Amino acid sequence: MREIGIGVLGFGTVGAGVVEGLFKNGDLIAGRSGIFPVVKKIADLDVQSDRGISLPADILTTDAAAVIADEEVDIVVELVGGTAIAKDLTELALRLGKPVVTANKALLADHGAELYALADERDTGIYYEAAVGGGIPVLRAQREGLIGNQIESIFGILNGTCNYILTRMEREGLPFDDVLADAQALGYAETPPDLDIDGIDTAHKAVLLASMAYGAAVPMEACPTSGIRGLSKVDIANADELGYRIKLLAIIKRHAGSVELSVEAALVPKAAMIGSVNDSFNAVFMKGDIVDDTMYYGRGAGRLPTGSAVISDIMEAAADVLHEAGSPIGITMMREHASLTYLSADEVQKRCYLRLTLADEPGAMAQVMNVLGEHSINVASVIQKELHPNGAVPVVVLTEQAREADFCGAIETISSLAICKAEPIRMRLEDFEDESR
Ligand code: HSE
Repeated sequence: MREIGIGVLGFGTVGAGVVEGLFKNGDLIAGRSGIFPVVKKIADLDVQSDRGISLPADILTTDAAAVIADEEVDIVVELVGGTAIAKDLTELALRLGKPVVTANKALLADHGAELYALADERDTGIYYEAAVGGGIPVLRAQREGLIGNQIESIFGILNGTCNYILTRMEREGLPFDDVLADAQALGYAETPPDLDIDGIDTAHKAVLLASMAYGAAVPMEACPTSGIRGLSKVDIANADELGYRIKLLAIIKRHAGSVELSVEAALVPKAAMIGSVNDSFNAVFMKGDIVDDTMYYGRGAGRLPTGSAVISDIMEAAADVLHEAGSPIGITMMREHASLTYLSADEVQKRCYLRLTLADEPGAMAQVMNVLGEHSINVASVIQKELHPNGAVPVVVLTEQAREADFCGAIETISSLAICKAEPIRMRLEDFEDESR
């Protein structure tokens, strides 16, 4: 039996989950791998708070640099979060030739290319399974299981906090802010939670998936991003009535000569598998040209699920260290060895849900339909009920596929009409005609 020394930087929610997992299942892991992972040191600014784990004496310190330099530490686990100190500490470890395991998607999405270059130069690696999909081993499935495939599309529900909020708003009719507070208490949310609800956390994960899929460091600017802030209960109820649910989706599609990327709230059919992914669960639907459709599902956030993914990386890094494997080629696909062309947001073809508030007068609906027709937008269905509060008529339109630029033009014109009584609401609709999703 060989031992491997672990230094943990950051003893917050995920750090505590990793240590708890290693203490609980260390023997099991050692039995399976022949390598015993020993936590040698843990660094955190807070060395007083009780995390509910009994630790050996002198293991906790405030000095992260000393943990990295400690001769007994073979693998550095970065769980500090953020992109400033975390980047310095990651670079320090890599310069010493020590592999870094991280759950930090923001760090890799913003600085992945340079960190990978540094890891390569020092013949070591960065391992980041926990950065995408929490406890779901989706990156491992992608880079190993699907290595023989051209990835045609990826649809992801990648943020546990948003999915938890959307699920409870729909089921219980609760206001956004109350559910967000619960998600924070459960340890799902980022600090600050704006990263979750504005879609940025999902975009970080989307660019990591796209980078892995297409072998290039995909920049955040390539991923138009919006979140669920300000989402109205009215739209959740309308979607429900029409047989849909609203989900925050990461969308990655390969087109001839370009890649389409976005993060946005979208209506998905309740009957589709993706529509059944609720609470803090995440799911990734990946289609390869050889394998066809695949799906990965599990807890996307939280202390132990994320800890599980970190532990899997610790053991992969441990095997690489003990076998002197150096820079793990399978993981370092974020290096810029290919440049990609991204589909312009204007050219994206999509279906949409529109909620309009029209004046209660003859010809109002006709004016809207004319504008949609002039912008080549074909209407799939229209719902208008007899209830007309304050002389205004709520109208819900589902469209067929049209260009984003045409939707933008149509909405701008509709907004300027005198019969338009409130800012139109528009959301993408993904109908997943392919029943496997
Ligand atoms: N804040 C993230 C989420 C944590 O809610 O999914 C996992 O990345």
